[in-house]
Amino acid sequence: MSLKILGAGKAHPSFSLSNSILSGMVDTSDQWISTRTGIRRRFINTTETLLDICMAAATAAMEISGVKPRDLDLIICPTIQGDNIIPALSCEIQRELGASCPAFDINAACTGFVYALDVAKSYFDAGRANYMLIVAADQMSKFINWQDRETCVLFGDGAGAVVLAKGSNLKAIKITAKGDSSLLAIPGSTGNSPFWQGGSPPSYLHMKGKEVFKFAVNSMCRDITDVLEEVGMDIGDVAKVIPHQANIRIIQSAAEKLGLRDDQLVTGVDRYGNTSSASIPILLGELLESGELKEGDIVVLSAFGGGLTSGACIMEI
Ligand code: UT7
Repeated sequence: MSLKILGAGKAHPSFSLSNSILSGMVDTSDQWISTRTGIRRRFINTTETLLDICMAAATAAMEISGVKPRDLDLIICPTIQGDNIIPALSCEIQRELGASCPAFDINAACTGFVYALDVAKSYFDAGRANYMLIVAADQMSKFINWQDRETCVLFGDGAGAVVLAKGSNLKAIKITAKGDSSLLAIPGSTGNSPFWQGGSPPSYLHMKGKEVFKFAVNSMCRDITDVLEEVGMDIGDVAKVIPHQANIRIIQSAAEKLGLRDDQLVTGVDRYGNTSSASIPILLGELLESGELKEGDIVVLSAFGGGLTSGACIMEI
């Protein structure tokens, strides 16, 4: 059975942070950032909350789909963390939309959107839902050490949403996890307990960039090959591959190994930076809006990130 996409939406904050502004904040340059990562700018929340941009993305997806909030059977939010620890971001979206269905967040970092699709497929397959909303959103600017030039140039804030219905368009999906906090982590706050006697590491993102780079390329190649094999397709049958947007060099390196043509590859890292779970649905939303993706096209989505997690799927539009 699986699922199909009825509508998609995307949103980002209004403030655009260019490489040249960053060059005045840390010891970096537009030249270094653009050649080593492909990033030229990213959007950063200043006055908007994460919920604000989620609602912009979700409302657009709902309008296109024609589905009414009361008809939703589940809302899933892939996010590292919403504006609050409680309520979950998904519950806040449910309230704002005026829906009455269950809602929960999942944290699979940058792979969150693919994880959410896997959960959604299981709900549809089990006959537990007719319509679902996924809103993938992250505010990475909260977790960055803005004095660390190795990470603060990479990330942006954003949200992407899809409304799903029962269908047969998700042809294959795969998700993986390999528990590891040495390559990529954001330590949690140790909180307010007067009894806690452990340390309090700063709650900043830290990353071993080169090793994450290798993990990313290897996971993308393996996961995409696996899902193609599962359905007996060749990479040439695919209209577009939408990879997680972390670094243009990761994307190009995997594309070369997979034998992808330039016209198959979708990139937005230049305009958005790495928006974590939102990066794939933002680009999916753009392609559907512009008409570049049409009914019947085969799309591959592929993501990797903290956890370490990875995943890929094949979907017919
Ligand atoms: O969402 C998933 C998580 N993230 C990723 O997938 C990121 C994966 N990793 C990467 O994208 C890349 O490894 C980075 C962009 C993080 C780093 O690029 P790199 O080509 O691996 O650079 P590097 O870490 O080897 O650093 C090269 C040089 C170093 O200087 P020295 O030691 O050669 O003198 C760094 O100190 O570049 C320096 N450097 C910078 N220079 C200017 C590092 N960051 C900067 C910077 N501006 N922002």
